[in-house]
Amino acid sequence: MITCHTLPLAFGRSLHGSRTLDDLKEFFSENFFRAETSATLAPLDSLLHPGGTLKTAQARAAHAFGADRTLFVTNGTSTANKIVLQAVLRAGDTVLVDRNCHISHHYGLALARVRPVYLEPSYQAEFGIAGAIPLGEIAGRLREVLLSNGNPPAAILLTNCTFDGICVKPASVVRRVLAVLKEWREGDEAAAHDELARIVFLFDEAWFAAARFSPSSSNIPPWPRFSSCATSRAFAPACASTSRNRPTRACPPCAKVP
Ligand SMILES: Cc1ncc(COP(=O)(O)O)c(C=O)c1O
Repeated sequence: MITCHTLPLAFGRSLHGSRTLDDLKEFFSENFFRAETSATLAPLDSLLHPGGTLKTAQARAAHAFGADRTLFVTNGTSTANKIVLQAVLRAGDTVLVDRNCHISHHYGLALARVRPVYLEPSYQAEFGIAGAIPLGEIAGRLREVLLSNGNPPAAILLTNCTFDGICVKPASVVRRVLAVLKEWREGDEAAAHDELARIVFLFDEAWFAAARFSPSSSNIPPWPRFSSCATSRAFAPACASTSRNRPTRACPPCAKVP
């Protein structure tokens, strides 16, 4: 019996001169082995170090989303969230986080060893469900962090949209945060913009991969923003995009991808 879960076949080259594999070659023919492929070989490309089709696909996705970069992630939006949190946060940072967020954020925050300050969602009594985070709640908690830390939080994590389909308006969130920062910097607009640029906004768009294309995501001041989305629920694999509010564009033909 020959197990072939990891085929050391080198496109059939390793079959030459092998007594044990002669039968296999005869039965399947060499062409079968030439078709060998894996997640580290062309044409599938390597997920860990993309240099071919995946690299092109990521560039096309970034272009379409108006992002600086898009990275495809396996293991779902949970992993995308944990990757973003561990990449951008440092131990001891303070983070404003939707209390109704997905559990992966709690894991990500614990792994990054940061201090969460929870944002309470509204309660939709009519339906018995949690809603979005009211802007007043974000402003109130932000003021508390500014007072106690003397610095803005390192990140603000919001769910767009919730499991029940309730969306946030990123433009309104960012404008409200900017207004609080301006008030804190005693009306100095430039200083408020500098502070804003230091805050990472992570919008968990696991259920709303198309959020970036909705009017609610337009007209936002430039700011470092990550979206983690499960494109499996809308288009294809999960991805994490980072953008500075570039306009979204229709996907160009391959030849035009930068
Ligand atoms: C808001 C939100 N974020 C992240 C996830 C995790 O997604 P995945 O199952 O793709 O890891 C879910 C899953 O339900 C979710 O609802």
